[in-house]
Amino acid sequence: MMEKMKVSNNQNQPNYVSKIFNVQLHFINFLTYALVLTFGLTLGIILSFYLKECTFSLQFTQLSLSSIPKTPSLPPPIAVKQERIGLKDFLKVPPVMHDMDEEELLWRASVTSRISEYPFDRVPKVAFMFLTRGAVFLAPLWEQFFKGHEGFYSIYVHSNPSYNGSHPESPVFHGRRIPSKEVEWGDVNMIEAERRLLSNALLDISNQRFVLLSESCIPLFNFSTIYSYLINSTENYVMAFDDPSPVGRGRYSVQMLPEVSLRQWRKGYQWFEMDRELALGVVSDRIYFPVFQEYCKGSCYADEHYLPTFASIMFWERNSNRSLTWVDWSRGGPHPAHFLRSDLNVEFLERLRSKKCAYNNGNSTNACFLFARKFLPSTLSRLLKIAPEVMQFEHYDKPKKHKLLLKPII
Ligand SMILES: *[C@@H]1O[C@H](CO)[C@@H](O)[C@H](O)[C@H]1NC(C)=O
Ligand SMILES: *[C@@H]1O[C@H](CO)[C@@H](O)[C@H](O)[C@H]1NC(C)=O
Ligand SMILES: *[C@@H]1O[C@H](CO)[C@@H](O)[C@H](O)[C@H]1NC(C)=O
Ligand SMILES: *[C@@H]1O[C@H](CO)[C@@H](O)[C@H](O)[C@H]1NC(C)=O
Ligand SMILES: *[C@@H]1O[C@H](CO)[C@@H](O)[C@H](O)[C@H]1NC(C)=O
Repeated sequence: MMEKMKVSNNQNQPNYVSKIFNVQLHFINFLTYALVLTFGLTLGIILSFYLKECTFSLQFTQLSLSSIPKTPSLPPPIAVKQERIGLKDFLKVPPVMHDMDEEELLWRASVTSRISEYPFDRVPKVAFMFLTRGAVFLAPLWEQFFKGHEGFYSIYVHSNPSYNGSHPESPVFHGRRIPSKEVEWGDVNMIEAERRLLSNALLDISNQRFVLLSESCIPLFNFSTIYSYLINSTENYVMAFDDPSPVGRGRYSVQMLPEVSLRQWRKGYQWFEMDRELALGVVSDRIYFPVFQEYCKGSCYADEHYLPTFASIMFWERNSNRSLTWVDWSRGGPHPAHFLRSDLNVEFLERLRSKKCAYNNGNSTNACFLFARKFLPSTLSRLLKIAPEVMQFEHYDKPKKHKLLLKPII
């Protein structure tokens, strides 16, 4: 083997030289390739870094330019045009009828911004929320009340699902019924209905004050007076007092401990008026409301205790502890007085309007009551005749045969 190799080596001397030369050539080639490769790689890396920096600074320029009105229009990056939306679209108010279930609605309603200033012109509105059995039978009176104030109020109606709404309701109430459920008077499901009303009203970011009314309620002042009173108020109007009697403290149950103690237990009637902060507190309450659902049933009358107690525990600092809705309990019994057509006259209404109470932490006095109840359907025609004038409605339609009734009518 060795011999053979030697021979062959000897035989191809010039070959051998060229081979060595070839190897050297290959090595040089390889070195060149490697050098070119390394150079290319380095160049690539440097270039990619440079480009990255470039896009960063480009983005930065775009950002700083965007605040300047005249942005030089950059060529569209890709042919696909994307729909862009502004804040207005994010805040669009959904239709009153929607397909959110209870849980979804409460969750959506409790969404809020932690920045208290609005980055746009916001005209605050008052949400008038009607909790009714059937039709809002005093609607024609409310129609006169709201006339000419569009954009400053929202209306929501929660009526029993069994009510089929065939009544021709006036235009301002048209299409304002929210998805409703069965309500039994005095039952805890009444508060569920109130939370449903509040939730729907909270979906409109413009709503600032929230008033709960029934179909038998009437306004006692014109719209601008009621609007200013509520919008300018620093207080909430959830009636709350400690009633030591069996129909007060007597309805408390020790099972409500530790969330609610007897000392915290309050009573009041349900017709409230509150601001957005308290409304948010009510719809997102996951501590006290379940306690009432569980332990305040039947003769406990949750509607007379839940809100007064909740507001007194969580929001007592700004609660006036009184209601803005007048109601006559003077006749005794478990229900307040109803008013018939014959009870109504100018003096009666003026008397309710003239009652004065402390307003905004006692800094001033103002009307005690903005609303009154309970007016039966038979009062409508007389109310339409006398109320717009007494309450100085701003844009009401004057009745054709108008006669101001100054004396009580039997
Ligand atoms: C509404 O319900 C009443 C009975 O409660 C019925 O007589 C009437 O026909 C219903 N109207 C419509 C439009 O369904
Ligand atoms: C609130 O009160 C001030 C004066 O006290 C008044 O100038 C302003 O118009 C009121 N705001 C509303 C919305 O009525
Ligand atoms: C309302 O009641 C609470 C106690 O429940 C009390 O702390 C608060 O001072 C009362 N507010 C007013 C204005 O009376
Ligand atoms: C209202 O009263 C409070 C004290 O109760 C006081 O700090 C505030 O300055 C008063 N505001 C006005 C407008 O008088
Ligand atoms: C609205 O009612 C108030 C009294 O509450 C009155 O001073 C005001 O003039 C009324 N507005 C109009 C436009 O009549």
